Amino acid sequence: MITKIAENVHWVGVVDWSIRHFHGYELSTHRGTSYNSYLILDDKIALVDTVWNPFRDEFLANLREVVDPSKIDYVIANHSEPDHSGALPTVMQLCPNATVVVSKRGAESIPGHYHAKWNMKAVATGDRISLGKHELVFVEAPMLHWPDSMFTYMTGTNVLMPNDAFGQHYATAFRFNDQVDQEELYEEALKYYANILTPFSHLVPKKIDELLSLKVPVDVIAPSHGVIWRKDPLQIANTYRTWAAQIPSRQAIILFDTMWQATRLMAEAIGDGLEAENVPFKLYHMAVTDRNDVLTEVFKAKGIVIGSPTLNNGLLPTLTPVLEDLKGLKFKNKVGAAFGSYGWSGECVKIIEEHLAACKIPLAAEGVRAKWQPTADDLKACEALGRKVAAAIKAE
Ligand code: FEO
Repeated sequence: MITKIAENVHWVGVVDWSIRHFHGYELSTHRGTSYNSYLILDDKIALVDTVWNPFRDEFLANLREVVDPSKIDYVIANHSEPDHSGALPTVMQLCPNATVVVSKRGAESIPGHYHAKWNMKAVATGDRISLGKHELVFVEAPMLHWPDSMFTYMTGTNVLMPNDAFGQHYATAFRFNDQVDQEELYEEALKYYANILTPFSHLVPKKIDELLSLKVPVDVIAPSHGVIWRKDPLQIANTYRTWAAQIPSRQAIILFDTMWQATRLMAEAIGDGLEAENVPFKLYHMAVTDRNDVLTEVFKAKGIVIGSPTLNNGLLPTLTPVLEDLKGLKFKNKVGAAFGSYGWSGECVKIIEEHLAACKIPLAAEGVRAKWQPTADDLKACEALGRKVAAAIKAE
């Protein structure tokens, strides 16, 4: 159902209640998502972003409820990923004389995706397009979260459309932040930040400062996924500032996999050491746990303890994806440790410690290995490791 979000601005996107994996199968989306597209009616008509192509028919029906698509003058493509640009070829067939407005890097990525000869206009920060009574003002936002990402601001209504920034993968019956469960909303906003935006955290406060320095009122923040922030809209910008600082809480996450329970027993003994020092911990068996949920927990915690048995001179493969993300997401302000059982060659701890070094996560203490099933002494060593991790978490 189309929704008016401000005078002459309509949400014409779609809600995807069913999607459970995004970016192919890279990101879990337990609560679905939405692809938000905004139609602006003025002397000139502008469409800001489209939707993922499988939803194009529903999207076009929404669009047609408000306007004849052939009358669209500008299609703003804030970002080229297909969840926002997928229906662009269909829209452009209906309004072939419209101008596709992109960032400078979007002038590379949009043609790269669609190989079409559309009228294109590349804009830079501060550039404006007059629609008649209102203007669109553009702010480049490279790496929030792709090089081509751009924010579009509409004067008069004071609506900021920042594309992926401030979004959530959260399918809802209603469109606005004050109409949904706040705990669910912030759970999804944090998961989105932790899994997508963490590596670009150093850019977040600068971009927020840049927006505030424009000294323009922001009455609505309308991202391209999830709900629209109309009640206290800057709350999410301020929360992003806090998340960007990556100040972790004094707790630990223990990630492990196990073949015959030896590494599990070690994980639990490390937990005993943390508990003895009053440091809360959560323990995740990665073979049966959603990776993206765990990464959200990793984002929050200061201590990251990783364990695996040795298999084929390496780690259990179920740990590989989360280790890749630990490196790619560039988490800051962590301490780490390694543990694992083995039968023969026993490289597990060395491999994990080398990986933590590559992730720039300093070791709280030397790792613990146990040959075959852990002895009582091995478990005591694990408990001692938990205490050392607790001390490193409490330090500073
Ligand atoms: Fe970067 Fe929602 O796509």
